[in-house]
Amino acid sequence: MSTAKRHAVTLIPGDGIGPEVTDAVVRILDASGVKFAWERYSAGAEAFEKYEEYVPKELYESIGRTKLALKGPVTTPVGGGFTSINVTLRKKFELYVNFRPIKNLPGLETRYPNVDLIIVRENTEGEYVGLEHEVVPGVMTSLKVITEKGSTRIARWAFDYARKHGRRKIHAIHKANIMKLSDGMFLKCAREIAKSYPEITYGEHIIDNACMQLVMNPYQYDTLLLPNLYGDIVSDLCAAFVGGLGLVPGANIGADAAIFEAVHGSAPDIAGKDIANPTALLQSAILMLRHIDEAEAADRLQAATEQVYRERKTLTRDVGGTAGTKAFGDAVIAALEVPQPAR
Ligand code: NAI
Repeated sequence: MSTAKRHAVTLIPGDGIGPEVTDAVVRILDASGVKFAWERYSAGAEAFEKYEEYVPKELYESIGRTKLALKGPVTTPVGGGFTSINVTLRKKFELYVNFRPIKNLPGLETRYPNVDLIIVRENTEGEYVGLEHEVVPGVMTSLKVITEKGSTRIARWAFDYARKHGRRKIHAIHKANIMKLSDGMFLKCAREIAKSYPEITYGEHIIDNACMQLVMNPYQYDTLLLPNLYGDIVSDLCAAFVGGLGLVPGANIGADAAIFEAVHGSAPDIAGKDIANPTALLQSAILMLRHIDEAEAADRLQAATEQVYRERKTLTRDVGGTAGTKAFGDAVIAALEVPQPAR
């Protein structure tokens, strides 16, 4: 265990259930034996009250320094208001990969057992470029931007990941029958990259069919490679296979920085009640530990989480328990085996 090193991490608790799940996860991380120097910042509406900026310059500077963030969800107004903080940060730091592993935890009865899917979503382009325009009253346009550079780098990342982790199959998911140029470009780049990875089977499915195929038989897929919007939607669909949004982690990765956050949003319907499940953020934090070469601590945290799930005594309501967010965090800390420093 590289306990000697203290890792500087930008912490964005977010809003809604964000501060609750973040608090539980930070307590668990601090109990893991790995040393962190947390740089805590607000973002979104809360930040605006304090700094008159949705993403304060101090937050940008902090990520610029640490190259690493753990982030809770931030509410984005619907139909107006400020641009999504996630989209802003992903663009700013060119976090072009959105990585979302979908895997069952033990002890949980879910829609499907033994799911092991990897979602690789392009994270900076597509409909999320935010180029919308009112042509004349009553007529709106929204530009979807797909570039050769963006499509090639995400395809390469997916194939590299698959090679490194022994994954066998990648399916590119698209709608190139209708969006012939934009999704067509995404496919062209994926096909080109696939040629350099002959050991990995490459396939293509149209997004609507892929959704049906996923629900019929998720086991036919291994790794899904998707443009931004399809990846966003399919991630939530796949989260339902393994117990819902309270469980599925995510990582936004670029060449220089990475931000780890759950797939779920700020869940205003359950905020402030100590009932949110912090597992998704905890699993994201475990991905973060692997990213910073703290694999041994990541394994211990994973084992502790799985023990709590196997025992089924301290689970949150979304997965059939009665425990609160804090109590779940305490249970993981109690299950955590922390190696003692040699005397
Ligand atoms: P949501 O993911 O917040 O909630 C959907 C459903 O899942 C709700 O019923 C909620 O209670 C449940 N849920 C979500 N996380 C849970 C957890 N940890 N434990 C137990 N139940 C959980 O999606 P929604 O309602 O569409 O979005 C709410 C807000 O979050 C919006 O403003 C949206 O823009 C924002 N959002 C932010 C994200 C981020 O910051 N990464 C990602 C997705 C949405």
